[in-house]
Amino acid sequence: MKVLVAGATGYLGSRIVRELAARGHRVRALARTPDTPAPLRACLDDVHIADATDAASLAGCCDGVDVVISAMGLVGKRTKQTCWDVDRGANRALLQEARRAGVTKFVYVSVVRSPGLERVQLVRAKRQFEADLRSGGLAYTILYPNGFFSDMDEFLAMARRGRVVVFGGGGLRINPVDGADVAVAAADAVTEAAEEVDVGGPDVLTHEDIARAAFAALGRPPRITRLPSWTLTGALAVLRRLTPLRVHGRLEFPLTVLTQDVLAPATGRRHLADHFREAAADG
Ligand SMILES: NC(=O)c1ccc[n+]([C@@H]2O[C@H](COP(=O)([O-])OP(=O)(O)OC[C@H]3O[C@@H](n4cnc5c(N)ncnc54)[C@H](OP(=O)(O)O)[C@@H]3O)[C@@H](O)[C@H]2O)c1
Repeated sequence: MKVLVAGATGYLGSRIVRELAARGHRVRALARTPDTPAPLRACLDDVHIADATDAASLAGCCDGVDVVISAMGLVGKRTKQTCWDVDRGANRALLQEARRAGVTKFVYVSVVRSPGLERVQLVRAKRQFEADLRSGGLAYTILYPNGFFSDMDEFLAMARRGRVVVFGGGGLRINPVDGADVAVAAADAVTEAAEEVDVGGPDVLTHEDIARAAFAALGRPPRITRLPSWTLTGALAVLRRLTPLRVHGRLEFPLTVLTQDVLAPATGRRHLADHFREAAADG
């Protein structure tokens, strides 16, 4: 099949491209610039250059495409765009173009279903797009993945600097998932009918466990500062009050995740401790 991957240059999207190519699909990337890295280019049939917030630039991107997979979103990046522009607006524009071109299925990578996150702007923008997709007239699959290993790298970065700060006394839990496991779920969705798929990692870890795993990967003794969650929720409340959406919208999701349990059904196979060991060895 011919599959368009939006967000192909990102952490998850690049893994989806590789997984699809390994399964023999022909892959078109939607990218903002033509300079896709060479290993990724080797997996691609072609590239459509567009900023998906500019609907006109999407014209033709889905021509000849059977299935669209979108891993396009704003993840903590400094930009003038907001989650409503990208996570909802750009994906909606892509859905319209997919419909126009006669695409048969749209696979969307959303975010974990966790009650304490539902009021966060980024999650609300994604839920709105999910509603667009459900009423969009195309077959669809929505993936609900927990936090990626790429986000857990912040624990490793703190450990490298000598101290990891955890909130909620360190006892809050998450089962983060490797992007490669999410890519498998996305590629499965090309041919499988399930409309909703939760994706979590195999290990439920406390933040303290994650901090210790980061130090262990570096071969250093753990130095952990445990703060109560209210310090972070208080800082978030101030951020929301004093900064525009394009600033607090970027920070609200990753910080809110640190103040509560965030759990998804365990479907992934890869372990965070192995990822940390590999990342530590790579320097
Ligand atoms: N990170 C997590 O822990 C996590 C957990 C659950 C769900 N998710 C969701 O999974 C998706 C992928 O996350 P990720 O960590 O792979 O993020 P990422 O590495 O930042 O990748 C995001 C991708 O979206 C593209 N993009 C952003 N704005 C665009 C626009 N206006 N037009 C075209 N492309 C645009 C980026 O292109 P450029 O390379 O040009 O910037 C990039 O390819 C996101 O929707 C995210 O919310 C993430």
